[in-house]
Amino acid sequence: MRQSQLITVFAFIFICLADESKLKVKPASKPVRLFTDEELRRYDGSEAGQPIYMAIKGVVFDVTSGKHFYGKGAPYNALVGKDSTRAVAKMSLNPEDLTHDTTGLTTEELESLESVFTGTYKSKYPIVGYTHRRLLNEDGSPNEDFKPEDQPHFNIRNEL
Ligand code: HEM
Repeated sequence: MRQSQLITVFAFIFICLADESKLKVKPASKPVRLFTDEELRRYDGSEAGQPIYMAIKGVVFDVTSGKHFYGKGAPYNALVGKDSTRAVAKMSLNPEDLTHDTTGLTTEELESLESVFTGTYKSKYPIVGYTHRRLLNEDGSPNEDFKPEDQPHFNIRNEL
């Protein structure tokens, strides 16, 4: 084999290995955990040592670092262990607002929701997954609004 042929073979092997390593890293770097309502309820701050999770717009955030807001007995404990989109939009802790349901929210409330979602939660807390509602509509069809790349700082812990 001539030297130029040898170089071509080595270059080919190198490219294949590089591609292979890319493939191995990619799927592991952005795992997505899906939460049912029941699973999310386990992270409501009632158990010491358990992380505290809360969802807004179907995105599940690890708010453990905000324990003074969300832990057991803390002022916003009612918001955690569930999707509290409506409560955050309305800045309300009324039990009927502790839901993912955004039906009938005003433009002002929806704008406020966006601002808290981006300004507070996305900038402050790691995303650990999504609620099933984020991926599927009520009728089981795919939710076209779901964007997997919408993950500013994914920092999943080994809980699966
Ligand atoms: C008397 C009424 C309230 C007062 C005085 C108050 C005060 C505060 C203060 C001082 C902060 C911290 C801001 C910062 O970190 O710089 C805060 C954060 C927050 N408040 Fe209130 N709040 C009130 C009512 C509510 C209600 C009813 C809700 C219902 C959803 C709410 C939701 C939040 C949320 C989601 C945060 C962000 C917490 C975080 O950073 O993780 N607040 N509030």
